Amino acid sequence: MQTIEQLGDVKDRSLADQGRSKIEWAASFMPVLAQIKERFAKEKPLAGVRIGACLHVTTETANLVLALQAGGAQVELCASNPLSTQDDVAAALSEHFAIPTHAIKGEDNATYYKHIESVVATKPHMTMDDGCDLVTTIYTKHNHLLKDMIGGCEETTTGVIRLHAMEKDGVLPFPVIAVNDALTKHMFDNRYGTGQSTIDGLVRATNVLIAGHTVVVVGYGWCGRGVASRAKGLGATVVVTEIDPLKALEAAMDGFLVMPIAEAAKIGDIFITVTGNYHVIAGEHFEAMKDGAIVCNSGHFNDELDLDALEKLTVSKTKPRTFVDAHKMKNGKTVRVLAEGRLINLSAAEGHPPSVMDMSFANQAMAAGYLAQNYKTLEKKVYPVPAFIDEEVAKLKLAAMKIAIDTPTAEQVKYMASWSEGT
Ligand SMILES: NC(=O)c1ccc[n+]([C@@H]2O[C@H](COP(=O)([O-])OP(=O)(O)OC[C@H]3O[C@@H](n4cnc5c(N)ncnc54)[C@H](O)[C@@H]3O)[C@@H](O)[C@H]2O)c1
Repeated sequence: MQTIEQLGDVKDRSLADQGRSKIEWAASFMPVLAQIKERFAKEKPLAGVRIGACLHVTTETANLVLALQAGGAQVELCASNPLSTQDDVAAALSEHFAIPTHAIKGEDNATYYKHIESVVATKPHMTMDDGCDLVTTIYTKHNHLLKDMIGGCEETTTGVIRLHAMEKDGVLPFPVIAVNDALTKHMFDNRYGTGQSTIDGLVRATNVLIAGHTVVVVGYGWCGRGVASRAKGLGATVVVTEIDPLKALEAAMDGFLVMPIAEAAKIGDIFITVTGNYHVIAGEHFEAMKDGAIVCNSGHFNDELDLDALEKLTVSKTKPRTFVDAHKMKNGKTVRVLAEGRLINLSAAEGHPPSVMDMSFANQAMAAGYLAQNYKTLEKKVYPVPAFIDEEVAKLKLAAMKIAIDTPTAEQVKYMASWSEGT
């Protein structure tokens, strides 16, 4: 009989057939990853490699781990966020695809880390993280595993920031490829993926009309640009808050109102944080909000919102809908926080649509293959995804979308390489 370690820890195995059907549906929108999977099945670039994956357990992630498995890897999966797991997908991976999966939607923090430990217990050679929790757990608690490890891949902005901090402190334990930094990842996933799925999560959680409301977007990076443009498209008045003068200027010239959060707090109906920073909405901002304001986060960690400060201001709390906590504050006003401040798109909706994750996970799969082949030449540093991978992903995606582009003529190539042609 197989143990929990071999099968994984999921909520309900009877959901496995439903999960498989959803995984197949997502696969039909992931043609680039499908081609990589086919190539992996022939070439087996990951033969014998144990991969510990700490990712959002979604239909798209399922297709990624199946591609890695086709490449010869043995993959063990846990969640990278307590609320982002799709329980039917976790069940399908464990039951139908021999991927032991340790993830239950709504798990508490202790279970979240217990699941990470289950993945660590398989002694991975390679990590695949979304937020860097696996690397930091191995580095801080399981140093003895490092001698057999070859490297890792990181999916998101916040994870890459943490890895750079480890490298700066001289404690990065192995080479890591920053998948987030591939252009075919963040220009599309962070912008169009987060843009659409954040609004999707907000609407599913609340059924609120966006048109006619003032939406405050905190942070105008790749995710913020996407969220702001989608909210505008649905008819909101959009306010952007920033700390970076260039991004603030860009937001202003893109047609958004830009002001400090202390001002925005007073006029917003809906607040969405996407900064990757700490307590960007603080106690005094909650206090200043209009009665009934809705607040959610789509950045990696829920500490973008100072929920402890809000708790201290709260006199009573109700749960009018599954993902809504209505906090009645001492000042008599109520603010509604969605999904306990966890990533709203993955908590209340399904995360990014598969056609955008097709590119992100094509980068992940190819980066893992590259790492397995080249780790001996790499140092304990954060590396960008090699440019040839980015270019290949873009070409494959264009081909899948049946979009043709021009090729420069010989004359144009010569012209662009020369300095002598002037006015
Ligand atoms: N929800 C998702 O599915 C999803 C997808 C991709 C990335 N992410 C996460 O979203 C976050 C943002 O990612 P990104 O790629 O947009 O990063 P980014 O670095 O491109 O943008 C972050 C922006 O926030 C701004 N900022 C920082 N502190 C601020 C503050 N106090 N007030 C206002 N603005 C502030 C920065 O100046 C920057 O412009 C990260 O945590 C990332 O991991 C989430």
